[in-house]
Amino acid sequence: MSGSFRTLSWEGDALLLLDQRVLPVVESTCRCVDPTGVADAIRTMVVRGAPAIGVAAAFGLVLAVQGAQKKKRPWRKVFEEAATELAGTRPTAVNLFWAIGRMRDAAASLPDDPDAAAARLEREALAILAEDVAANRAMGAHGAKLLPARAAVLTHCNAGALATAGYGTALGVIRAAVSAGKKIHVYVDETRPFLQGSRLTAWELMKDGIPCTLITDSMAASLLAAGKVDAAIVGADRVAGNGDVANKIGTYGVAVLCRVHRVPFYVAAPLSTIDPTVRTGKEIPIEERDPSEVTHLMGKRVAPHGVPVYNPAFDVTPARYISAIVTEKGVLTPPLPAAIRKLFR
Ligand code: MRU
Repeated sequence: MSGSFRTLSWEGDALLLLDQRVLPVVESTCRCVDPTGVADAIRTMVVRGAPAIGVAAAFGLVLAVQGAQKKKRPWRKVFEEAATELAGTRPTAVNLFWAIGRMRDAAASLPDDPDAAAARLEREALAILAEDVAANRAMGAHGAKLLPARAAVLTHCNAGALATAGYGTALGVIRAAVSAGKKIHVYVDETRPFLQGSRLTAWELMKDGIPCTLITDSMAASLLAAGKVDAAIVGADRVAGNGDVANKIGTYGVAVLCRVHRVPFYVAAPLSTIDPTVRTGKEIPIEERDPSEVTHLMGKRVAPHGVPVYNPAFDVTPARYISAIVTEKGVLTPPLPAAIRKLFR
């Protein structure tokens, strides 16, 4: 499942990224050969989704050290410049900073020899990639048990193979449930304004032959009111220490609707997405993106010239609306602050 495409692949001296800006119409690949190329790809959403941007940044740092060798510059200096550049791309998903921190830790004990440093950092980036896939598989195994044998599941944004190194977080849980023989039908929120649901999630699910129905975000309420949804599951960009979850804009609305209609609302997130240094969701920085994402659809203007636009890319769902958080270490249930504390003890 999800074996028919690669979100990211490492070529030894270049990072290949499936260009998510043009899916599902075109399947093309961007080739990044230096950290600036990777930073641009993250900023412009060639690669997106919390775990995927962390993995991409790790390889961006490998490319930086490889480039330092060619330019005959001290690799530590080039590494730090690249780390600053990559960290400045997107502020909300903590996986980006987590991956940079892990690469920095690996770099700290390395010799001055650039060849040895590049080789060791390459191994670390490959380990981050492999561990992400393994975490997704483990989340799938834990989370699949939460879904009934026959269920209609609502999801928002894309938390699939495209948002990770492979398999996915929320879609990983769905994939695992389907593999276990459960009859799952997925309702896919289109996810305005960037359309990660319609362009990416629907594409992934259809490639895997998992039954799905696309809806616009505004249709979720009537679907829930009609009793047509058994559970909702989404990914996360950052989980605060108290269990508040930052995820794609519109997620909070889905969570409130689920509470009103007594439908469980699940979040799937690896440990690399949990940030216990942030006490509550109020402390999570929320990225605001270009107004053109709202005023234009696929390059076509759909709003008057000059209209003021508010375009936050994420919102925060308070912990009290979350039925459980699925991690690779198991399922966290309320009270979430205590469950998260225990996990990081
Ligand atoms: O702006 P995006 O597309 O990077 O936002 C992605 C999301 O909000 C995902 O739900 C989240 O990163 C989890 S991905 C496993």
